[in-house]
Amino acid sequence: MIPDYLVDRSVLEVACGTGYWTQFIAPVVRKIAAIDINPRTLEIARSKNYPYGRVSLDVADVHHLPGRYRDFTGAFAGFWWSHLLRADRRPFIESLHRALGAGAVVVILDNRYVEGSSTPVSRVDADGNSFQSRRLADGSEYSVLKNFPTQAELVAELGGSGTGIEYTALDYYWVLKYEVAA
Ligand SMILES: C[S@@+](CC[C@H](N)C(=O)[O-])C[C@H]1O[C@@H](n2cnc3c(N)ncnc32)[C@H](O)[C@@H]1O
Repeated sequence: MIPDYLVDRSVLEVACGTGYWTQFIAPVVRKIAAIDINPRTLEIARSKNYPYGRVSLDVADVHHLPGRYRDFTGAFAGFWWSHLLRADRRPFIESLHRALGAGAVVVILDNRYVEGSSTPVSRVDADGNSFQSRRLADGSEYSVLKNFPTQAELVAELGGSGTGIEYTALDYYWVLKYEVAA
């Protein structure tokens, strides 16, 4: 479903992590520039197989996108939105749209909260951000920001800056697809 939305486009993938989604998107697009702030996840992403010459993997901060994506016609963000503070959503959208330009397709994929499957929310802060307590194999425990937006929230967040908005609720995931408005 995700690659199908991006066929023949030049795609900016934000917060690509280990390149899990990059490997499925790369075969159907013109090119994909995948960025992440963490060199260690990019190292793993570099070990994957991609069509020759079509994928670039670079360290970059999503909150300070370089202006080199003007000719890009698509963007993908997997499991990124849920880790954004509510206050950072609008600045993220604005900077992504500035980087891409009008008409680009944006595809965002993330988790729905599913009782009995999702890690329970351990606390909610004053701004409504929810956090989960996650334990690593070495026993260390971390409070991880993980928001579960509703469809209405997502649409409201876009305001007038997205057109042709399609929201799909799968059993465990939601997918938002739209075009950057002029
Ligand atoms: C939950 S992972 C998702 C990775 C990948 N998209 C996937 O679905 O497998 C979130 C990723 O966001 C990256 N990240 C966090 N803050 C970032 C930032 N400011 N700019 C770019 N990447 C960031 C992390 O390094 C991590 O790889």
